[in-house]
Amino acid sequence: MTDKKATLTVDGIDKSIEFPVYSGTLGQDVIDVRGLTAEGMFTYDPGFVSTAACESSITFIDGQKGVLLHRGYPIDQLAKSSNYIELCYLLLFGELPSDEEYDKFAQLISNHTMVHEQIVNFFKGFRRDAHPMAILCGVVGGLAAFYHDNLNITNEKERYVSAVRLIAKMPTLAAMCHKYNIGQPFMYPRNDLSYGENFLYMMFGNPCEEYKINPVFAKAMDTIFMLHADHEQNASTSTVRLAGSTGANPFACISAGIAALWGPAHGGANEAVLAMLDEIGEESEENIQRFIDKAKDKEDPFKLMGFGHRVYRNFDPRAKVMKETCDEVLEQLGMADDPQLKIAKRLEQIALEDEYFIERKLYPNVDFYSGIILKAIGIPTNMFTVIFAMSRTIGWISHWNEMIAGGHRIGRPRQLYTGHPQRDYPAK
Ligand code: SDX
Repeated sequence: MTDKKATLTVDGIDKSIEFPVYSGTLGQDVIDVRGLTAEGMFTYDPGFVSTAACESSITFIDGQKGVLLHRGYPIDQLAKSSNYIELCYLLLFGELPSDEEYDKFAQLISNHTMVHEQIVNFFKGFRRDAHPMAILCGVVGGLAAFYHDNLNITNEKERYVSAVRLIAKMPTLAAMCHKYNIGQPFMYPRNDLSYGENFLYMMFGNPCEEYKINPVFAKAMDTIFMLHADHEQNASTSTVRLAGSTGANPFACISAGIAALWGPAHGGANEAVLAMLDEIGEESEENIQRFIDKAKDKEDPFKLMGFGHRVYRNFDPRAKVMKETCDEVLEQLGMADDPQLKIAKRLEQIALEDEYFIERKLYPNVDFYSGIILKAIGIPTNMFTVIFAMSRTIGWISHWNEMIAGGHRIGRPRQLYTGHPQRDYPAK
């Protein structure tokens, strides 16, 4: 366990209070403050800036150095040499698969990409112009109504069945959201295609003609899936863990994660970046500077979308890979001088030279360039966060599984109460 301790002295309490201090494999030590309640006090940490909510061995982030490891492997190496299905296996099981294990897992995922045919009726309850994230949130939450045969979460095999179903079906459901929006027929998944190819096929294929997969797009999609797969205890993963701590079924937990991810401060930022670049309009210094000044203005709630991060005080390593992928895809499409890419690069350059951003260590995050690639591939802006949710499903389900398998208590934070002291109801 530990021989390190922290000692707290509090005005008004005549004895000092000792707490155990634990060290992980990497990163900050933690002070175990569970004993504080017995002393009649709580810690206070709105936004959980200094709170470790759990122990985990899935992902490690060093915000100062801009390092992201998945089960110890750096994200840039994984993005260069692995693929999304292999990363799913790594996040779920903790080790890279052998060739045989990979083939078996990839085949299992392929065989579960189709959804229950009744789910088509579920989609028909939505307006055609519903935001695809609203549809996805509802449909994923409703999966427990279709797949209730393996929901004993205390059983490892049943947890795995739900994990496979979610990893496999999310691209199908995501593409169905898009097809529903544009009034085209749903495309059934194909077992002869890779994960990224299948997604593009279900998004852009139609029953009237053969759809030719663009290998550049398929590779870019797979890279984007990998870069969004997991990110430690972010807001949506913490939501999934909190929902899971009550014993809720995995589909309900993932639906909660999708809802949390939708916010523009989190996964909704990729859609918001494109809206911001659209608003900046043509690449003019004064327009860009106007947005930078808005972002710096404390009176203005506007934040520079795709910039800043709770943990990274350096470049988000995913943003570096995303920027390289962006350059590659647009180069291959002959769109190297895409106006929005030029604005984004100029915005980044100006911001990184501005004292306000330098002082606060605000750098581009994973969302800054992803939207430009997705737009170049032809994916509508309102589908950007859906793709983030699809990619992050493996992270959410890996953390959910780690928590359930490792034993847990229901999450139940306390508060600093500043409301009325007790008072009597007025006599009539
Ligand atoms: C994701 O947590 C994760 O890991 C999330 C994620 C994942 O993979 O799961 O990485 C995905 O959500 C990436 C972030 C996407 N969101 C955005 O791009 C939206 C714009 N970013 C900001 O809203 C903000 O940076 C957050 C929400 C990302 C972080 O919020 P924090 O931690 O509350 O911000 P902070 O404490 O670092 O801010 C410090 C200062 C503050 O100003 P002061 O009070 O010190 O004067 O920097 C300012 C902030 O106001 N600031 C910004 C800014 N981000 C922070 N000012 C202008 N523009 C910004 N983008």
